Amino acid sequence: MAPLVQAIALSLLLLSMRLAFGGEPDVNAHPDIKSPSITSCMTTACHGSNVADAKNWQRAGKIWFDSDPHARAYTSLLTETSARIVSRLAKKELKSTTPLSDEYREVLNTKCISCHSNENVSESQRVLGADCQVCHGSADAWGSEHYSSEWKLLGKNRFDGTERINVESIAGRAKVCASCHVGELDRKMGPTKGLDREVDHRLMAAGHPPMYFDFESFLRRYPVHWDTQDESVALGSKLGMERWRVGKITTAIARLKLLAARAERSTNKSTQVADWPELTEYSCTSCHHSLVRPSWRIARGSNTNSLASWDDWTASQLDCAVRDQSIEELNFQLTLLKKSVEHTMPVPTQVATIAASLKAWLELELDHVSSSAENSDAILLQKLKSRIANGDRLQNWESATQWYFATRVLAEGIGILGSKAPVSFVKEDPYVNARAWLPTVSNKFDAPTYFDPDMLNDYSTDLKRQLQTRP
Ligand code: HEC
Ligand code: HEC
Ligand code: HEC
Ligand code: HEC
Repeated sequence: MAPLVQAIALSLLLLSMRLAFGGEPDVNAHPDIKSPSITSCMTTACHGSNVADAKNWQRAGKIWFDSDPHARAYTSLLTETSARIVSRLAKKELKSTTPLSDEYREVLNTKCISCHSNENVSESQRVLGADCQVCHGSADAWGSEHYSSEWKLLGKNRFDGTERINVESIAGRAKVCASCHVGELDRKMGPTKGLDREVDHRLMAAGHPPMYFDFESFLRRYPVHWDTQDESVALGSKLGMERWRVGKITTAIARLKLLAARAERSTNKSTQVADWPELTEYSCTSCHHSLVRPSWRIARGSNTNSLASWDDWTASQLDCAVRDQSIEELNFQLTLLKKSVEHTMPVPTQVATIAASLKAWLELELDHVSSSAENSDAILLQKLKSRIANGDRLQNWESATQWYFATRVLAEGIGILGSKAPVSFVKEDPYVNARAWLPTVSNKFDAPTYFDPDMLNDYSTDLKRQLQTRP
């Protein structure tokens, strides 16, 4: 992180607050500023409080500025890693020294800022990174009515038909996160309209870190700037479990939407040449892995009739998130899609149709899961047992990591597991540590090639033992 850029960001924020409010920010005024700038949100009487024992909603701006990864997202575009990515994309050696060259800015403006900043603010504000508005909707939409005492009593309705984004509901929140952490094309409608958000294989081959988004664990790592008591009162110890299920299904919906949009785009002659099939839809390790012997991969054999395996990250353990009566239908549809994606020459129209239909089905399932009270300890326990039993179907790092997440959340939900060290292939516990557990592309591509299904043995044995000793 470049401290200089942070300092520039801070002084820019302070400066624009002065400009907006004339001199020192007026603590009691709520001027209706029409330009989508977050300075109007940051007065000390609103979300810019600096007082340590103020409520989190009052300190939201301070927490975000001090510790939110999104406040630093723009500065990441100026690091050496980014300069390398940008140079490869521009096919020309470019430096990130200020002022940025037009070519550098061109790459950022077309390929990066939709996720690393807010493309809807003026260029001078973008240094503030992914600001409040990318998650909450345009500051314009948060008019003076939200200061009133009746505001909260409006319930969910206060988001309807407005440009405000509802991140209060778990599903709404997961959808917002997934838009960047998974990707989203065609953002022309609704409160999140903007440029495409996509990290494709071209970006990854240029050096962008691969994205393994898991809603539950990302949310746990996310510095909270709201008051959480309502959430914990309603859900208590089921919080993680409930969030995991909803997050898992919502992420799958986002992923399928992206796949369908990519497939459709490839058939559209008027758009720019887009790669099809898009390689990030596949498991990285089915193409990138070290040629070591003895290898569990060789022992397993490979399917020579397919291009590569469809990425297991989204689909594995999804059956654990849906209702029991939906598992069969889910597996049927997943098999259909997997077959069409893994075909040596995947037919885009076919892939798009199947992906869209599975997405629509999952949307209905999500409504059931979000509204039903189907969350008893007995059901959790049964699911956990079946997860442990199904551990041997794990194919690769992606599916094993998802299995680890599912069993951890479930085990925590029913109160077993204590303080267990993470399994060896994850290196660091994803619930606590930032990106340390993820594969990176910092030097050269570092797929989790060292993964071996046997690495799960100790962990599974331990889980089994704890389940047995449970009263
Ligand atoms: C679809 C959204 C999206 C787009 C587009 C995107 N990124 Fe990212 N980028 C992310 C996310 C999400 C992360 C964090 C990954 C994680 O930890 O899971 C990230 C991480 C990074 C990192 C690592 C940051 C760190 O602190 O380690 C760099 C560098 C980066 N991106 C550069 C770029 C550049 C340069 C571009 C444009 C060429 C770009 N990104 C486009 C979403 C995006
Ligand atoms: C990465 C997404 C994200 C960003 C960026 C973000 N927020 Fe939030 N914010 C959330 C989530 C999630 C919640 C919790 C759900 C809720 O309470 O609405 C929340 C809650 C809040 C709340 C509490 C709302 C309530 O009803 O209690 C306030 C106030 C708030 N955010 C203000 C801000 C401000 C100001 C910024 C920018 C400085 C900001 N947020 C940036 C995601 C974000
Ligand atoms: C506008 C796009 C965008 C949205 C929306 C968004 N993120 Fe991010 N997120 C990013 C980018 C880009 C990074 C990488 C920041 C950097 O450069 O280091 C990131 C980084 C993170 C990190 C740090 C990386 C890690 O692995 O610890 C966490 C945690 C995170 N986001 C959680 C969330 C959550 C939770 C939500 C939804 C409430 C969310 N994000 C919504 C773009 C976004
Ligand atoms: C179908 C096979 C296939 C899949 C799946 C695949 N790649 Fe690649 N990858 C390639 C090929 C071929 C190249 C070399 C040509 C190029 O750069 O596109 C490459 C190049 C790369 C490079 C650049 C390597 C270098 O030394 O310059 C990186 C990094 C990379 N891929 C990352 C990934 C990640 C991350 C994933 C999973 C999200 C992935 N790839 C999935 C085939 C694949």
